Amino acid sequence: MAGECSLVSVLGAILVLTIFHNPFMVYADQGMPYVALFTFGDSSYDAGNKLYKQANPKLPAQHLWPYGKSRDDPNGKFSDGHIIPDFIADFMTIPTGINPVLKPGVNLTRGASFAVAGASIRGSPEESMTLNEQVKLFKSLKSKYWTDKYIAKSLFMIYIGTEDYLNFTKANPKADASAQQAFVTLVTNQLKNDISLLYTLGASKVMVQLLAPLGCLPIVRQEYETGTLCYPQLNDLARQHNEKIGPMLNDFAQKSQAPYGFQFTVFDFYNAVLRRTERDNYRFFETNVSCCGVGTHNAYGCGKNNVHSKLCEYQRSYFFFDGRHNTEKAQEEMAHLIYGANLNVIQPMTFRELIVYPAGDKMLEFWKPDTFSLNRRRPSVDPNIELSSAY
Ligand SMILES: *[C@@H]1O[C@H](CO)[C@@H](O)[C@H](O)[C@H]1NC(C)=O
Ligand SMILES: *[C@@H]1O[C@H](CO)[C@@H](O)[C@H](O)[C@H]1NC(C)=O
Ligand SMILES: *[C@@H]1O[C@H](CO)[C@@H](O)[C@H](O)[C@H]1NC(C)=O
Repeated sequence: MAGECSLVSVLGAILVLTIFHNPFMVYADQGMPYVALFTFGDSSYDAGNKLYKQANPKLPAQHLWPYGKSRDDPNGKFSDGHIIPDFIADFMTIPTGINPVLKPGVNLTRGASFAVAGASIRGSPEESMTLNEQVKLFKSLKSKYWTDKYIAKSLFMIYIGTEDYLNFTKANPKADASAQQAFVTLVTNQLKNDISLLYTLGASKVMVQLLAPLGCLPIVRQEYETGTLCYPQLNDLARQHNEKIGPMLNDFAQKSQAPYGFQFTVFDFYNAVLRRTERDNYRFFETNVSCCGVGTHNAYGCGKNNVHSKLCEYQRSYFFFDGRHNTEKAQEEMAHLIYGANLNVIQPMTFRELIVYPAGDKMLEFWKPDTFSLNRRRPSVDPNIELSSAY
């Protein structure tokens, strides 16, 4: 009896040891290829470039504290902490994160942020860069840091256009439908040229984040005095812009030829924001008003040294940190959507799939308009259980 008992406990101990020394343990980065992440765009993706771009870098930047507050680290990002690309870099297990390309001496091996606050697609913004200038900077650094093969496997994220449409609307508040369409065409044609240039430089895995419903940004609601409503003209412009992105990228991908296949995916940020600001609060307590700033929507002047801005007590319950940018909590949620949400949020594939899709292969699935109902199973068991319509 005693012998059996000890045999059992010895076997048990061996079992326990085996489990805890299991060579098949799966780590978070297992299967994650060693590739880089490059980001292009405006303040939403700026990892700190603006600090090095302003005329006099010694002047206090306009986005110091309370930016970075949740990390106790104002580092030139427009959030209380991390931004979307930081979370994506974490998911990709990039230990250095994504450094701002303009910061001297940073390690660019695993990629870089080329995004600069104030960047537009058109125009020539002072103290910022257009997307075209960002792509040209990538071109000039390319051979120094990354091989073509490595670039072909690496990921590119783009979020830009907000400045173009805010500026257009300010300059042309009475623009009619045809003037709006004409402007959207100008902007999207330039965007197409820039992405095309990126592709000729070897970028072949690209994620484009669609524009937010710009009319719902707190700074826009505040400036155009729309109260709890969104400013329709800016939402229209963003929608028209967004409608052109999927077809444009389909076209690139269909025309591309192996071994230089172009692979892409499109994140429907527009509706992800709307779901949180208009229909459902997704546990954000406040989605109309920013956490940091002054004015009716607390939307202006966060971090500016001559503005006595108010700061909310609990950033994680707010969707917007300042008049235009999301809180870290919201950015984390968006990063999760990019990485693994349904096809009605990111399509034709998730970011995770884009990472592991064989480099150089042609895509076999493309972006389709309105995949919503198509890919959604109807509730069949209990019609009284309310399913949220999307993530
Ligand atoms: C940069 O980072 C890479 C990988 O993260 C590392 O292998 C390399 O040694 C670093 N370079 C320098 C100069 O520190
Ligand atoms: C903003 O609009 C003005 C007037 O239309 C134009 O001159 C300027 O280049 C625009 N700036 C940007 C960044 O688009
Ligand atoms: C936020 O806006 C919605 C409408 O978009 C409105 O129903 C709600 O009352 C607003 N919340 C606050 C706190 O003003």
